[in-house]
Amino acid sequence: TDLNLQEIHDFMIEVAQQAADRITSATPTTGAAGNKKNSVDLVTETDQAVEKLISTALSTKYPSFSFMGEETYKPGDKLTDAPTFILDPIDGTTNFVHRHPTVAISLGLSLSRKPTIGIILNPFTSTLYSAITGQGSFLNRTTRLPLTPPTPLTTLNTCLVAVEWGSNRSGNDFAVASRTFAKLAAAKEDGGAMVHGIRSFGSAALNLCAVACGWVDVYWEAGCWAWDVCAGWVILEEAGGIVADANPGNWSPRIEERRYLAVRGGSGQKDIVEELWALVEGRFEVG
Ligand code: IPD
Repeated sequence: TDLNLQEIHDFMIEVAQQAADRITSATPTTGAAGNKKNSVDLVTETDQAVEKLISTALSTKYPSFSFMGEETYKPGDKLTDAPTFILDPIDGTTNFVHRHPTVAISLGLSLSRKPTIGIILNPFTSTLYSAITGQGSFLNRTTRLPLTPPTPLTTLNTCLVAVEWGSNRSGNDFAVASRTFAKLAAAKEDGGAMVHGIRSFGSAALNLCAVACGWVDVYWEAGCWAWDVCAGWVILEEAGGIVADANPGNWSPRIEERRYLAVRGGSGQKDIVEELWALVEGRFEVG
């Protein structure tokens, strides 16, 4: 490719930073925007305004690139091989509505449908995660991820695991997720714990960053979208992590697949994936 990835990356950061105080200064209102499909799939006017701001800036500078954004996506829209900016203007909208500061602008670039640049900015804490394929991933542009050299992954019972309930609270996929959550939370037959702990930060993008940092070992979710994971995917992979499918059996899901199992860097990744897959009862239909 003859694209200047570094220049695009720097511009993506600039644009995200310009949008940041639009989020921190906002009073979250769902008024005109409301619920997308149910009472827990929230969208605020700020989500829409930030998407507009960022997409306008991107298309002015890179008019030939495609764009996919959470707030303008229409069912049936397909990711193509063209360079595509993939944006979640506010990942963690429910947190944002509650003024919980675990919120991020998640902006990725895909080339040939592969996540290639990732920018994740928490505007409340001014924390920036960024990566370009092949060039490592960074916290605040200077600190390389993971934050400490990765220890080997041994078994799930030494892992801190992130999961999310998402906005889907009924049906097959809810049942598959809840059964697995219960198994992860329960004791093992020998009385030991199945995992060290379970976390739900409320932002897929920041969950992926936590795994990239190394302070969460595993993140498992079905139901999120390309814009929730595109940027985090690059950041995680560049930190030595891997992304497999939340459904057992598929080691290399596509970005549009909507089912993800992320594991931090370190030896033993495949064993952890297989141990978790063995717990999943049923199959997710999403994707
Ligand atoms: C959601 C968040 C949440 C995850 C959902 C996502 P949004 O994104 O990342 O943590 O569980 O699957 O859709 O709606 O806040 O942009």
